Amino acid sequence: MLLSDTEVIDRIFDHIDAKSTDQGSNVWREPVDHYQSQERFDKEIRLLRRLPVPFCPSGALPKRGSYLTRMAAGRSILAVRGADGMVRAFFNVCRHRGMAVADGEGCTKSFVCPYHAWTYSLDGTLKHIPGHEGFPGINKEEHSLKPVVQAKEQGGIVFVAQEEPVSQGALGHMPNLLSSEQRLFDKSEFTDPANWKLVGETSMEGYHIKALHKESFYPYGYNNLNVIETFGPNARVVFPFRRIEKLRAKARHRWRLDGMVTDVYQLFPNAHLTVLSSHSLLIILEPVSPVRTRYEIFRIGNRGVPIEDSVKDASFVKDTGLQEDRNAAISMTQGLNSPANNFMTFGQYEEGAIHFHRHLDNLLNKL
Ligand code: FES
Ligand SMILES: [Fe+2]
Repeated sequence: MLLSDTEVIDRIFDHIDAKSTDQGSNVWREPVDHYQSQERFDKEIRLLRRLPVPFCPSGALPKRGSYLTRMAAGRSILAVRGADGMVRAFFNVCRHRGMAVADGEGCTKSFVCPYHAWTYSLDGTLKHIPGHEGFPGINKEEHSLKPVVQAKEQGGIVFVAQEEPVSQGALGHMPNLLSSEQRLFDKSEFTDPANWKLVGETSMEGYHIKALHKESFYPYGYNNLNVIETFGPNARVVFPFRRIEKLRAKARHRWRLDGMVTDVYQLFPNAHLTVLSSHSLLIILEPVSPVRTRYEIFRIGNRGVPIEDSVKDASFVKDTGLQEDRNAAISMTQGLNSPANNFMTFGQYEEGAIHFHRHLDNLLNKL
């Protein structure tokens, strides 16, 4: 169970009064080699295939027949909501000669491969082979789309495990972060020359707010003042705005976090949900190589907020902060091959990142 709004706000007020922040008890040293070695990277990809990891918000598959394809851990995956309302996921590879059967996203009754038009139902069954007589003896049942090992919707997010999971990962401790009425209103992607963990770490601590976000967040928020709670391998990092002070004058039973904080839920290992005032961002980091990462960004309306307001809020806050975090990750990636550091040092203020590395290490050792 995560802390209630009142509990989080109490903790924030205590930190404001004491000029303190939540912190861990240890310092962590992560070898620089873990960010640049191809061997380590390959192992991380193997892990990403063997964990249920966030694939998209449920809102990206709103109707029966809605589908979404994207690269996940180096493979093209197709997720689709079936005629029965269930989400399934398949390797997006035709069972004839391997072309992708779907591209991008949309809504359909069946998947027709663009190459020779082999046709699959929403549940992956091969239902039609044009010129069937040219394939004597073929067993259609054996040529259905190959499903991933696990596709599961929980807490408003679709999780996909491509292969037999080594752990339930984020899914084992997944609160209901998103509800079905929260609509997806925008989706974007881009690739940066940065390591995926260096990118992810920028969302795991608030120790950098004043230095890196001097003109974007810092005028509205606090430096190094966070509530951090962990749930399984996941973590929640709360970044308060200065306007939270207004709540002190209100009755406690009316205290709400909405609009008073940026709430960031780390979904282990490569996704985070950032809840802003009127909309939320699900950001999934797809490692492309040790020095390249693709961002998959889904923008979703918040509960009880008219969708027009969410869209307006999204265009207003679009790039603040994110651009600075992107630049930091690119710069650190460029520094990886320098002899300056053998280790990245994480202090007690960076407990969110330490929690991530501890779990990542643990699971990589299980492979
Ligand atoms: S590769 Fe798909 S129909 Fe031929
Ligand atoms: Fe940041």
